[in-house]
Amino acid sequence: MALRNIIIDGDPRLRKVCRKVDEVNDHIRTLLDDMAETMYAAEGVGLAAPQVGVTRRAVVVDVGDGLYEFVNPVLVESEGEQCGLEACLSVPEKNGYVVRPRRVVVEALDRNGDPIRVEAKGYKAVAFCHEIDHLDGTLFTDRAIQPTAEQLRQSEERNEEIRRLMGEREEAAPAPLPRGRRNTRVVRVKREG
Ligand code: NI
Repeated sequence: MALRNIIIDGDPRLRKVCRKVDEVNDHIRTLLDDMAETMYAAEGVGLAAPQVGVTRRAVVVDVGDGLYEFVNPVLVESEGEQCGLEACLSVPEKNGYVVRPRRVVVEALDRNGDPIRVEAKGYKAVAFCHEIDHLDGTLFTDRAIQPTAEQLRQSEERNEEIRRLMGEREEAAPAPLPRGRRNTRVVRVKREG
């Protein structure tokens, strides 16, 4: 595994519609491994392939309940609304309020090329949406809004959830991380990636 450079807003590769992965081979598995290592090192909760300059449809997410690796992910269900502050490893020093679905279902291929279907609620749903947006060249700044009072209240709820989740991820870090995350140690996390 190796750390990769995270590219920054302004780089045209962040605005590309990424190509589907035709075959989940060792090349893609290495990409996923490197993306996870890079995400953990940067203290992010997600990372999309275009953020490391690879315009292919692959993302990794870990909001505290383990690592998700998605190849060719598709949002097949979404419902409800939630609002909260987002940030991005490719958009340093910025954050913004974004409305996302409260619950989503993602279908994708796993690192073996097998189809998977994952339901997510709360902050994990936000992370999935944020990363999948990257695959279509969309950044959270494109979706940022001026929040209403109700949306600010939702955002406070989100902050509580994040504090709880990140506490769990810190506690989990000293043990071997799931699915072969060998050399990663997590300290503190605050950016969606
Ligand atoms: Ni991002």
